[in-house]
Amino acid sequence: MSRTANQADNQRRDPLLTVEAPAKINLYLHVVGKRVDGYHLLDSLVTFLDLGDTIAVAPSDRLTLTIEGPFADGLSAGADNLVMQAARALAEDANVPALAAIRLTKRLPVASGIGGGSADAAATLKALSSLWRLPITAVRLAEIGLKLGADVPMCLNGRTAFVGGVGEAVEPAPPLPPFWLVLANPVVAVPTPAVFKARSGPFSSPARFAEPPSDAAQLSAYLAERTNDLTAPALALSPVIGDVLAVLRDLPQALLARMSGSGATCFALFADEAAARSGCAAVTRTRPGWWSACAPVIPPQPLS
Ligand code: C5P
Repeated sequence: MSRTANQADNQRRDPLLTVEAPAKINLYLHVVGKRVDGYHLLDSLVTFLDLGDTIAVAPSDRLTLTIEGPFADGLSAGADNLVMQAARALAEDANVPALAAIRLTKRLPVASGIGGGSADAAATLKALSSLWRLPITAVRLAEIGLKLGADVPMCLNGRTAFVGGVGEAVEPAPPLPPFWLVLANPVVAVPTPAVFKARSGPFSSPARFAEPPSDAAQLSAYLAERTNDLTAPALALSPVIGDVLAVLRDLPQALLARMSGSGATCFALFADEAAARSGCAAVTRTRPGWWSACAPVIPPQPLS
């Protein structure tokens, strides 16, 4: 086939719409209470990285999901996949047929505390509401998203925010300064329900701040006064998380090391790119069996 024909063929097969599903990071996470249905009330500062999965959708006469990328293995493309659940939930809500060819490029480790599945579901809701040209509001999308998972509304919002309730109360946070994170995961899946179940002791207080931190060092100082309350139960279930935190804490110029969400992914915070990149290279060299990555935070966007 000629080069031009190849290109034309590729164009025909190219998906119409691509939506990024960025990694979600809980910069701090306080568990502040528990509802009667067992869900926990949270106070968290979440942000998103320039790193993540990708959802691509194209018209089709069926609903299909193909998964590619480094973490495609071990993830079912069946009806239980959150992406398929999101597609069906949206179609049902809008009363349209659930028809689309969906491709998920899975770059983030599964069940790792950085929102992967929730970010994929949020990106699917956005992509399919465009593909199907649905006149749907952001509020309605968030309601559909919440039924899929507590983290989906914050992933739909996609910008730095304080999160309350069980995850559905997404509120603006002060703009954060630029910073880089090194992520490390020991490639153990830590199931969120088990971590919440293993939590014990008194609840924390909410700890929001109003003043924008002036730089990464001040942000780290703010965060150091706060914590991730799920670290202790996650550590009890997967002690290797202690090694991950120790390795990250020891990286030169790391300002803070902490676990995200219910783990097992942990992050180290850096003021500048060069230090983060050499930190990431050091983790890759010394812990080749772990997943590690380095990315900047997505800069604050003007409110729409
Ligand atoms: O909503 P999602 O499916 O992500 O939550 C998985 C599990 O984590 C829930 O079934 C619940 O056991 C626990 N969870 C919780 N409180 C939250 C979020 C999740 O107890 N705010």
